[in-house]
Amino acid sequence: MDSQSIVTLVARKGGVGKTLLLYEFSNFLANFENLYTGILKEYFTKKPLVLKNSKILLIDMDEQKNISQYFDHYEEEEEEGTVLGIFLPEAKDPELIPVAKNIDLIPGDSRMATVGDTIATHNDKNFKILKWYRNHAESLNLSAYDYIFFDFNSGTGTAQQNSMIVANFILTLMEPDKSSFTGKVQLEERIDNIRQTLTDPMDDSVSYVTAELITLANKIENNTDLSKQLKAFAEESEDILGWMPKRQQLPNDVLRGKSMFDTEVMQERLKKQSDREFYKHVVNLFTKLKNKMDE
Ligand SMILES: Nc1ncnc2c1ncn2[C@@H]1O[C@H](COP(=O)(O)OP(=O)(O)O)[C@@H](O)[C@H]1O
Ligand SMILES: [Mg+2]
Repeated sequence: MDSQSIVTLVARKGGVGKTLLLYEFSNFLANFENLYTGILKEYFTKKPLVLKNSKILLIDMDEQKNISQYFDHYEEEEEEGTVLGIFLPEAKDPELIPVAKNIDLIPGDSRMATVGDTIATHNDKNFKILKWYRNHAESLNLSAYDYIFFDFNSGTGTAQQNSMIVANFILTLMEPDKSSFTGKVQLEERIDNIRQTLTDPMDDSVSYVTAELITLANKIENNTDLSKQLKAFAEESEDILGWMPKRQQLPNDVLRGKSMFDTEVMQERLKKQSDREFYKHVVNLFTKLKNKMDE
């Protein structure tokens, strides 16, 4: 792949697992070739379209700065060089900070909570990210990244609409709860609505939002009816790419600053049969997702 995938993570509500998934998926992509040819070799049953360790840029749009925290880059106060610079000319330009091998981060900023209001009256309020990208593509060598991810809190405000305009993919998660199906429909309607609103003023039939929606199910357990229902739906419906199990190890690892694709973590875990099955499942789900983004 010489092209680049730009992905924005969207959900109707917080807590569905976007940031955790992004953390693990970034670690997976950044080390993909090593994993595929090395320690996880026998776990892959799907062939990748592109075999290489990818370069990732994470852009933390969430004012709670979770993905920045996960990569141990959290500053309570002095916030300079953050994502805010994409939206406000008076803020300092965003910095691309290397946080792991092949992973760079534009840190989050608590002031993102109000940026939508601040730029509400700007003519170009929906095009801030696109403009930033175009203006800095060369100086920041943005085309060197194979994947750029925008991590959001929830909702579909101005900042998120901005990201939809530059994105090739909108990635969303469903979790097994009573409102997951109505939530899915509501989100799809909201995205359609944005597609119809953000159109070329000279031609309403041309939308600036061309991104494809990808849905995953997350936090699937073995023993609940809601999980079984959602899993069955994920397996038979074209609408859902796949499902991710619920696994308490994942949040525990993140708290220690470890990914499930950390070499030491894998060496320890792969001794156990149940963990080997878990790895096999995740590796193939993530390969499917990667292939989709590499098409
Ligand atoms: N597959 C999973 N298994 C176990 N815990 C999960 C899983 N996915 C997410 N979590 C946990 O659920 C909580 C919410 O996830 P998070 O990624 O912060 O959601 P979001 O970014 O969508 O708000 C976190 O504590 C996270 O560690
Ligand atoms: Mg999050």
